[in-house]
This record gives sequence, C-alpha cells and structure tokens, in this order.
Amino acid sequence: EEQKRELTEKLMQLKKERNAIILAHYYQRDEIQEVADFRGDSFLLAQKAAQTDAETIVFCGVHFMGESAKILAPNKTVLIPDERAGCPMADMVNVDGLRKLKAQHPNAKVVTYINSSADVKAETDICCTSSNAVKVIQSLDCDEIIWVPDKNLGHYVQQHTDKKMIIWEGYCNTHDMLTVKDVVEMKAKHPNAQFVVHPECRPEVVAMGDFVGSTTAIIDYCKKSDCQEFIVGTEDGTGYQLRMDSPHKTFHFATKYLVCPNMKVNNLKKLVKCLETMKPQIYVPPAVADKARISLERMLQVQ
Ligand code: 13P
Ligand code: SF4
Repeated sequence: EEQKRELTEKLMQLKKERNAIILAHYYQRDEIQEVADFRGDSFLLAQKAAQTDAETIVFCGVHFMGESAKILAPNKTVLIPDERAGCPMADMVNVDGLRKLKAQHPNAKVVTYINSSADVKAETDICCTSSNAVKVIQSLDCDEIIWVPDKNLGHYVQQHTDKKMIIWEGYCNTHDMLTVKDVVEMKAKHPNAQFVVHPECRPEVVAMGDFVGSTTAIIDYCKKSDCQEFIVGTEDGTGYQLRMDSPHKTFHFATKYLVCPNMKVNNLKKLVKCLETMKPQIYVPPAVADKARISLERMLQVQ
C-alpha cells in the first residue's frame, strides 16, 4: 500500500511534467484503472486518443491499441507500459493472407476488427470494434464483405446482416475458451442471474446470452438493468467498473479463466516507469499510418 501511494504520487507529478493523458482498457489491472484519466472499451479509447490535446498519450492496453492511438494522433508521443503486451488474435492475420483473399473477392469491401496490426489496417476499407460492428457493416453499399480476423464476432455480425461475409478464422484465446458447459453449470448454480456475454465468445455461447455486447455495452446494461445478479462472459478486468457502478449487485465471472494474460502484463510500476523514461514509444511508419488512418477515421464517422 505504501509503495502504491508513492507510485501514484510520482505518476501524478510525471503526468503534469509530460502533459500526459492515461487511457486504460477495462481489461487492465485495477491498480491501472484506478489512476486512468479514461477507462473504456476499444472504441471509446480510440475516440479519446483522436480528440485529446495532451502531448503524450499513455495507452494501457495491448499493442494494437497503442498503434491505433498513434495512427489517429500522429504528432503525439504514444507510450505503452510494456511492448510485450500483444494480442494473439491480432497476430492471426497478416497482409499476405489478406491480399490473397482480396484478389479472390475483388468486389468485396474489407472490414477489419480494430484488434489487428497497422499493416493490416492499411489494407482495409473500414475498421470496426465490437461496439459498432453491425452499424459499420450496414453503412457500406456493397453485397460482399471480407471480415478479419475474429470468426466469432464475424459469426455474430452475420446474423444481423444480409450481406455475404467471408470470415477469417481468427479468435481471441481468452473469450474462445468459454464453453456451453461452463455456462450451463453457472446458470444451475445461480438461477436468478442473467448471462451477459461478449461477441468474441463462441457462437453457441453467445446464443445463450440474455445480453450480448462489447465491454462498454455490458457495463451499461448491468448498471441499468433491474436484475441484481449477473454471470459475466467477458474478461475479468471489467469487474472493476461493474462493481463500482453497482456495488450492491453480484457479478459471477463465468469461469476463472476469463483473464487475458496479455492485458495483465502491464502494471502500475511499469506505467510510472514508461512516463519517467518516455519509453517504450509506439512507432508506425508514416506510409502505413497514412493508409491505416483512413480506415480508422471512416469508423469514427459511422453514427
Ligand atoms: P472491446 O473493448 O471493444 O469490447 O473489445 C474487447 C477486447 O477483446 C479488446 O481486446
Ligand atoms: Fe486480444 Fe482477447 Fe486479450 Fe482482447 S482479450 S487483447 S482480443 S487476447
């Protein structure tokens, strides 16, 4: 506790000196969410990065999120507490694979989940997150969509559109681990609880949801709902905001394995250190960033 207090004081000092803003994804450790200027899902944090006046953005999340911030705010310094915090799903698609698919389907538009590298975004017509995927698809005037990289979110979106979707086979190791059996068992244990689930989970698990949505959508739903008890089918870090919004409600995570090890690589100590040393910084080659920016900005414009 003493150490945490000292670290927090140091952080506040450094934040002023560097004119920095701290953005934290809901899957970050509590000790990081506590000191963030903004907590949010991928969409909100991308918006904040695009809008901020601060000179330095510290992005507490995984690598692709820092990259998106740098692409949207190319003149700012973007720091991440630990550059080893990657996203295995983002690494499941590469430029060569995507180019091959584009050659096979020349009339299709490419919709890329924000969980992807800058290189892949540069080959993309429009990006999306789990909070706006359906709206993004509906905004396009084409019949065919190439969808990368999340097959589970792709399957969910396909149920809400008549467009033909060509779906890449990627997935999130964390969300994809949740099974129907896990949820059946939890429902038996907590019969009054509603099951809220992220669309990165398997289709058969998503089909069991009383509510399906992005991290922010789940948090909003639980806050507003009259229900007092929830089984949560997304990453464990969301518990911080869920409990803060509704201290008297009960939240059971669907399994103890809903923890993204990549998100947890960051901690308060590394956060302070990166602001102190101004390292590691995110770098995206300008030629790649200029192309990728178009696909991200198109996403931000979809209402
Ligand atoms: P959202 O924050 O957009 O719900 O995405 C979930 C996720 O897995 C981020 O890596
Ligand atoms: Fe990637 Fe899944 Fe972790 Fe999100 S939760 S960063 S999609 S591995």
